[in-house]
Amino acid sequence: MGSPIVLGIESSCDETGAGLVREGRLLGHAVASSMDEHARYGGVVPEIASRAHLHSLRAVVRQALDEAGLEPGDLGAVAVTTGPGLSGALQVGVAGAKGIAYALGVPLHGVHHLAGHVAADTLEHGPLPNPCMVLIVSGGHTSLLLVRDLARDPILHLGDTLDDAAGECFDKVARVFGLPYPGGPAVDRVARTGDPRAVAFPRPLPGSYDFSFSGLKTAAARWAESHAGRELPVADGAASLQEAVADVLTCKAVAACAEYGVGTLVVVGGVAANSRVRALAEERCRAAGIELRVPPLRLCTDNGAMIAAVGDLLVRAGARPAPLDLSIDPSAPLEYAALHPGTSLAGAGR
Ligand code: KG4
Ligand code: ZN
Repeated sequence: MGSPIVLGIESSCDETGAGLVREGRLLGHAVASSMDEHARYGGVVPEIASRAHLHSLRAVVRQALDEAGLEPGDLGAVAVTTGPGLSGALQVGVAGAKGIAYALGVPLHGVHHLAGHVAADTLEHGPLPNPCMVLIVSGGHTSLLLVRDLARDPILHLGDTLDDAAGECFDKVARVFGLPYPGGPAVDRVARTGDPRAVAFPRPLPGSYDFSFSGLKTAAARWAESHAGRELPVADGAASLQEAVADVLTCKAVAACAEYGVGTLVVVGGVAANSRVRALAEERCRAAGIELRVPPLRLCTDNGAMIAAVGDLLVRAGARPAPLDLSIDPSAPLEYAALHPGTSLAGAGR
């Protein structure tokens, strides 16, 4: 019979995602975004996000099933993001996932959102080597992780951000530069015509695997203020900011690979979509003889396929399903891919 088809549901921020995965293969997925509804506020408004999830959840699940040519009765398990994220937004996804799992009589698995970002890459490039180095760079997180068996082993944090996340830095500086929300893609776009050496922005915390982006954010704001009354050379500022972020991220990630003797670096999360982060990671990995894996753009930002990918790994590892009173954990630390008490190792044969 093979392993079951896993439905993954993601609703931790402003994207409602549903994805279908079986044995590491993506069968179909759909994403609805409420990003446009938040744009005029300059950031995600939790209540608006929750309402949008409620509005879209059913439709994205249907759309993913249609894309895969499947019916609800074909599903063998449901995986859902239980944290970290916005609590109201998470609640909607978890309630929906419970309803589907209960109605179909199939197991439910709670998944850590960031483990989803890691697993996204397996849908394009196959199973992750054990061990591998993972750089997670999103709007809410920046972490350098040593990952072994994602479904079974604890994840080792080599470094985390001490303040802002890399994506948050892009978003906040973009606002100061007068660029539209979300800031990351806007900075990427205008940076193309700028000079990355125009402004000497700081490279914080050299020699550590931890990150800090708030000083860089402040430096960029000061630089913008120093142009008061004159036209701001936004392209140069954006290119220089992007260069600083890409430099810091890739320098630490490559150094960690060398120190831990790890031959593969996986860069995931929304900021992995950044063209300079990708290019510099490629250049430095090639020079250091490290294999670089970056998921395709559509799997870098939040989606349900990545949650289904974790669910599929958990199911195949024999992880114990979550109880139906599974609850959300908005600030869950990333220790295990499974996110509900007692499941991470239980029944996984270790
Ligand atoms: O992983 P993600 O979709 O959501 C979170 O879990 O946070 O990441 C969103 C973040 C935002 O901060 C956004 O500005 C950033 O990823 N981002 C980018 C690019 N595309 C998205 N940052 C820089 N360059 C990009 N091309
Ligand atoms: Zn994310």
